[in-house]
Amino acid sequence: MNYIGIDLGTSAVKLLLVDEKGKILSEVTREYPLEFPQPGWSQQNPQDWKKAVLDGLQALLQGFDGSQVAGIGCGGQMHGLVVLDEKDEVIRPAILWNDGRTAKQVQYLNETVGKDKLSRYTANIAFAGFTAPKLLWMKEQEPENFARISKIMLPKDYINYILTGVHCCDYSDASGMLLLDVEHKCWSKEMLDICGIKEAQMPRLFESYECVGTVLPEIAKLTGLSETTKVAAGAGDNAAAAVGTGVVGKGGCNISLGTSGTVFISSDRFGVDPNNALHAFAHADGGWHLMGCMLSAASCNKWFCDEILKTTDYSGEQEAIAPEKLGENHVYFLPYLMGERSPINDTNARGTFVGMTMDTTRADLLQAVLEGVAFAIRDSVEVAKSLGIAIPTSKICGGGSKSPLWRQIFANVLGIPLQMVKTEQGPGYGGAMLAMVCSGAYPTVQAAADALVEVAATVEPDPTLTAKYEERYQQFRKIYPACKDLFTQLM
Ligand code: XUL
Repeated sequence: MNYIGIDLGTSAVKLLLVDEKGKILSEVTREYPLEFPQPGWSQQNPQDWKKAVLDGLQALLQGFDGSQVAGIGCGGQMHGLVVLDEKDEVIRPAILWNDGRTAKQVQYLNETVGKDKLSRYTANIAFAGFTAPKLLWMKEQEPENFARISKIMLPKDYINYILTGVHCCDYSDASGMLLLDVEHKCWSKEMLDICGIKEAQMPRLFESYECVGTVLPEIAKLTGLSETTKVAAGAGDNAAAAVGTGVVGKGGCNISLGTSGTVFISSDRFGVDPNNALHAFAHADGGWHLMGCMLSAASCNKWFCDEILKTTDYSGEQEAIAPEKLGENHVYFLPYLMGERSPINDTNARGTFVGMTMDTTRADLLQAVLEGVAFAIRDSVEVAKSLGIAIPTSKICGGGSKSPLWRQIFANVLGIPLQMVKTEQGPGYGGAMLAMVCSGAYPTVQAAADALVEVAATVEPDPTLTAKYEERYQQFRKIYPACKDLFTQLM
């Protein structure tokens, strides 16, 4: 039998058709627009996701027998607020994970309700991208829309609803709503009260590898899938990517370099960062994880190349960075193009170049962008280390990790070996693995990871370069505190 993995990303949806040995048989990408209606706001139309997924499924199955697809699993962009009315129609565009409009609501939650209470109820505090502050924003700014809410869900749950007609959510993705009691894996009554929401408005909760339903007859007819094809609850994209790189069970680490950048530390036990700088979420394997998330990672490179250098030849552009320049750059870049989440939690933070002189080149600036992202990821790694978590090595995945230069910079900034897996398909592959477990091809997510994930290559840090980058990182750390107050005044 075959399986479909879906990665519902921020710029596009990627669909994979995979056989039970994990071989990719077919692959399709469909893009959709992203709106920034005001600086720091970020929205998308769930109808665009629906169209892209249904169109993508038809294209993916061209030349294949859809009745041979046993299961589907989706990994989706997290935290996005999708609201449906009583006819299950979308009420307004989804407010996405990198939207910064909720600074006031975040302040209310963290300061008036209080971080201690939030952490007790949900294991987390409020960040602008999380779903609960968005509900409070809607209640205040769009009361008519708020009054019409019949169901609240996350982006990939809307796709699961379209496929099966079931209102569902999995624990990994639900963790990022600030409405879930992450330790006990149930909706937090206190948080629902704080947001003015009833439990009946929330979707039903599942483990990521559990089956939420089967494909609806009209979807089966449209796509060629069978009405017996099972749909797994799926996962937040970071948990799905971690499954795809085999970071499940106790103590593994995965760094994802996509639009966002994340450090994902899996655990078989529930645990909280006492300072809540790292998120404490459920994992897609039935366990938990800690995660640091930076809002603009590979998107900094994309922005700098597309918008500023006016080129789409990313690898050609990187060729101008001479190997001897690594660790020697005097230009620094703060990668806060959408404000920042982990660990500084500052919606006012902005992208910033520091340290240019008359001999600074185009290549130095690009190098600063790549290094700035690596330094900002190290900030989250440092938080993990301060909690006594050892990270002797990590997997690395996502679009940015395809650059050998960027991988080398990361390995040296972090001073650890970084491993790439053979089938580097991130959340989509993890989604397909969850579909396999849901359909009974493997008994557990761990068993699927043991059977399917293979390390293809490792980038080792170089001691001389690591020492140079240590000095650079210590300089980088001084820049944000020096700019912090200024950023609030620049608003
Ligand atoms: C994680 C987060 C991002 C999105 C990107 O907390 O906000 O990684 O999931 O799709």
